[in-house]
Amino acid sequence: MTTLGTGAGQSVRVEALPGGGGHPLDPLSAGEIERAVAVLRAERQLGDRVRFESVELREPGKDGDFSRNGGMTAGKDGGIGRNGGTGGREAFVILLDNDTGATYEAVVGLEAGDVTGWAQIHGVQPRLMLDEFFECEQAVKESPEFRAALRKRGIVDTGLVMVDSWPAGNYGVAEEEGMRLSFARSWLRASPTDNGYARPIEGVIAVVDLNAMRVIRVDDHGVVPMPPNDGNYAAEFAAGFRTGLKPLDIVQPEGPSFSVDGNLVAWQKWSFRVGYTRREGLVLHGVSYEDQGRERPIIHRASLAELVVPYGDPAEKNFRKNAFDVGEAGIGSLANSLTLGCDCLGQIYYFDAALNNSRGEPTQIPNAVCLHEEDFGILWKHTDWRTGQVEVRRSRRLVISFITTVGNYEYGFFWYLYQDGGIEFQVKLTGIVNNMAVAPGEVPKYGALIAPQLGGHIHQHFFSVRLDMSVDGPNNSVYEVNTRAEPMGPDNPQGNAFFAERTLLATEAEAQRTVEPLTGRHWLIVNPSVNNYLGQPVGYKLVPGENILPFAHPEASVSKRAAFARKHLWVTPYHPEEMAPAGPYPNQHPGGAGLPEWTRGNRSVENTDLVVWYTFGSHHVPRPEDWPVMPVMYTGFKLMPSGFFDRNPALDVPPSGQGDGHCH
Ligand code: NI
Repeated sequence: MTTLGTGAGQSVRVEALPGGGGHPLDPLSAGEIERAVAVLRAERQLGDRVRFESVELREPGKDGDFSRNGGMTAGKDGGIGRNGGTGGREAFVILLDNDTGATYEAVVGLEAGDVTGWAQIHGVQPRLMLDEFFECEQAVKESPEFRAALRKRGIVDTGLVMVDSWPAGNYGVAEEEGMRLSFARSWLRASPTDNGYARPIEGVIAVVDLNAMRVIRVDDHGVVPMPPNDGNYAAEFAAGFRTGLKPLDIVQPEGPSFSVDGNLVAWQKWSFRVGYTRREGLVLHGVSYEDQGRERPIIHRASLAELVVPYGDPAEKNFRKNAFDVGEAGIGSLANSLTLGCDCLGQIYYFDAALNNSRGEPTQIPNAVCLHEEDFGILWKHTDWRTGQVEVRRSRRLVISFITTVGNYEYGFFWYLYQDGGIEFQVKLTGIVNNMAVAPGEVPKYGALIAPQLGGHIHQHFFSVRLDMSVDGPNNSVYEVNTRAEPMGPDNPQGNAFFAERTLLATEAEAQRTVEPLTGRHWLIVNPSVNNYLGQPVGYKLVPGENILPFAHPEASVSKRAAFARKHLWVTPYHPEEMAPAGPYPNQHPGGAGLPEWTRGNRSVENTDLVVWYTFGSHHVPRPEDWPVMPVMYTGFKLMPSGFFDRNPALDVPPSGQGDGHCH
């Protein structure tokens, strides 16, 4: 252990922890980020060529009690790592030295103000940083070779050129080894507020050394004429608006039904803590439900742990289009600042996100996470048709959401909690589809025409959600449930019999599964030590929604790098370092990291502290209607109580309506 030296960091007071620090799981405050950077700068003599890829909370170990009133006890892992701290506020920092290309991880104890962990991580590239996107665009625009390629296309002024940094991937090219690269693509606006994505500067790819922030070459795959049409969608370009929309107001005269204390949220028997990381964005900690006076844990930690978008165009200029938007870009760092009355309606509580730029300065995304309630139709109903008595309850759901912009695309991530114990995760996909200019008359095979001379690539989005489950306690087991038809025979003389069959997934190998809608397949996460009043283990079932598998060949680079996506379900025993299903550093990684690596030992996942990984794919054959901005596509899954409660837990939801409290 080292202590603070005589550098600049010495002037930072130990006691000064402005904001944050209220609970061990609260994200770092701006003050804590500033302090961590100051301590590191002082102790490690970091020059201005060192970038801070992330400075965030090193989450405490799991031994603590993080429930509604929980505190924290010491963690079990004292070593360096992004997780599993020993107690006390700690920052986990990833640094990139642009001079040497070296990546470092550091742990900073925020109370003592010292660096307690420091290690160089070999053979990895940290995520692309937002500053790099801007600097890369500038470097490309200044490149003589790039300007020459533009002149070949009649573009002289780079003022309206947009350059998007794309991750390089890893295709085993020897000279790319160890370099920090981006393959930058460009588009041209017609005016400063024009949708530039209508005009791809086709065939020009600037290869950028991000450490030197210098274009090392420009690949020119041949001139394709610009698509002829604008693609504007902004209000300022609208020729007119449809009429007939009368106000539809959400009125909550007595305020919302939730309460917020720091990052702790309570609503309709639910409680949880809001966390936030640069990589994952919104994190839910300690999701629990109060049942007859008992606080019952369900999920210890939930987040979107990876998102990969494989594109299906094999052309030389397009095969590298494979983006890991969590691991390579960081959806948390690209989140939108949400607007009242537009992104969310009603009584809203916003959480800000405290982040850092690559120079180590604190930054903030105000209103990054939105918390609000929605009416959701009926919760349950029965009409006694003999007596005419009607009992109906309206359903209300709590929505915790954030929206992120990754280049041309938007993703909204929505967690829903329901009064009947249901949990839902939904992704809303919108924004502008990535595209290419095609020659007049050409219809792309590996995509579709979305506008004249504009092609959208066929592609898929795979979302991997990490669910650190704790159904009534940390030790859980997972069963697969398939419905089977009973063969005809003496026990099934009429052939009508079918039954749900439960199969224990006892090991990591057994627990690598895919969806099967034709058997009604779902997965049941139970606590074998806690029975409900029917004498059966309490459980929650994971109910898949729409899903698909990757079409990329198993030997394709993206398949190796996103091997997690080739199974929809994985189950692993909890380990504090196992947070990212494609590994912690997927940028330019050759593949094999994350879930395929961890599960090689085929550990037991029976009656243990386990993590459920569920991956769902959204398949996207672009349509003309996706242009110029895509109406929202929805995808996701649900977690439903299954024997967790003794009966419908929402019987106590009061009747709603005016006057006597009943609907008429
Ligand atoms: Ni898409």
